[in-house]
Amino acid sequence: MHVAMIGTGYVGLVSGACFADFGHTVTCIDKDAGKIEQLRSGGIPIYEPGLEKLVADNVRAGRLFFDTDSREAIRGADAVFIGVGTPSRRGDGYADLSYVYAAAEEIAALVEGFTVVVTKSTVPVGTGDEIEAIFKRVNSKADVAVVSNPEFLREGAAIEDFKRPDRVVVGTTDERAQAVMRELYRPLYLNETPILFTARRTSELIKYAANAFLALKITYINEMADLCEAVGADVQQVARGIGLDGRIGGKFLNAGPGYGGSCFPKDTIALVRTARDAGAPVELVETTVKINDERKRAMARKVIKAMGGEVKGKTVGVLGLTFKPNTDDMRDAPALAIIPALTDKGAKVQAFDPEGHEARKLLTGVDFMDDPYAAATGADVLVIITEWDQFRALDLDRIKLLMNQPVLVDLRNIYKPEDMRARGFAYTSVGRAPV
Ligand code: UDX
Repeated sequence: MHVAMIGTGYVGLVSGACFADFGHTVTCIDKDAGKIEQLRSGGIPIYEPGLEKLVADNVRAGRLFFDTDSREAIRGADAVFIGVGTPSRRGDGYADLSYVYAAAEEIAALVEGFTVVVTKSTVPVGTGDEIEAIFKRVNSKADVAVVSNPEFLREGAAIEDFKRPDRVVVGTTDERAQAVMRELYRPLYLNETPILFTARRTSELIKYAANAFLALKITYINEMADLCEAVGADVQQVARGIGLDGRIGGKFLNAGPGYGGSCFPKDTIALVRTARDAGAPVELVETTVKINDERKRAMARKVIKAMGGEVKGKTVGVLGLTFKPNTDDMRDAPALAIIPALTDKGAKVQAFDPEGHEARKLLTGVDFMDDPYAAATGADVLVIITEWDQFRALDLDRIKLLMNQPVLVDLRNIYKPEDMRARGFAYTSVGRAPV
């Protein structure tokens, strides 16, 4: 099949490369000429394990192309995917659909023959109807089916998630479109991946309902962590104890500094807006958003408490800035709330992250170090904000010698309290008794 993918962000680029790897001919289109140039010369604009090789292999095999000009690819496409961003609209939290609608206008003017137009971007319920209206207005003769096909991939595990998903959701009742979508995902059919066909609005909502549920699950265990600290229980054992119940499931029960990233924060807020507008408010999600925002500030207070209540003039070493490991994405990263709360109180912060280079633009008054040991040198406290693998096996004796005093705040629970006590650290984690 011939696929045109509009947008070369996370979703667009990964989906495009994976569809090419499934054997389809894919052209990824982006207006950003610099990005297309970079991709054509083998560079990858984002950090995602395995993506560089996947792109290179498929370019070499003659199945994956990059272009700023969409004309040829759209005319020849069986399916045109819209994989552009839907950021939070400034001020009101609604999803900003201007890129989606601009893509729809562009496609409408160019399609030839029956074409399936698929939104992979996360879009609020009813967006497919709007796209259909754009087609009617711009090109009433266009023979298209507008389909919703939300993407559930996680950054850092994106290729695996695309190629071995728990399910694929396709929102269309059009039989010709269903046939095209079935063909596109054929390798997954062979793997017996459940492929769920629904009405378009249902599919659009499934994506938000899934992300909000996961955000809620994380927030639930974070609240349990606070309760564990208050009553002297261990949140990791609570998580295991409840997670073994098949109805609950053990995934996404890691307590931490609150969820961040490109999806949960914006999608929960957008869902809240949609639900209020529809007269069916989702109060659990509203509360989740509030608790998660507050949590990031609470984490700064935790650090201050671990230092005896005063950070003015003290040095805070920080390990990890990105919203999670294996990504360079800084969007809504807890570090962006925790660190300013510390510097505002007069702390000197020296931070290290293997890929979070963008933090240099987002955080002022922070020293960026080249490795974890440099971040620990002379520090009065060392705070782990993101659980990069390389922080799991630090030379702790060396860290202890480098620090001004051995105080460690582990916001991801990657170390064991008893080990840290044995090594002579004052150790604070999340939902476990401090030592
Ligand atoms: C998420 C969804 O998982 C994915 O299905 C959707 O398509 C996009 O949004 P992503 O944002 O890449 O993916 O990251 P994810 O691994 O879900 O983590 C999101 C945030 O939750 C991170 O800040 C992470 O640290 C946090 N998290 C996750 C926890 O604090 N505890 C957990 O147990 C899991």
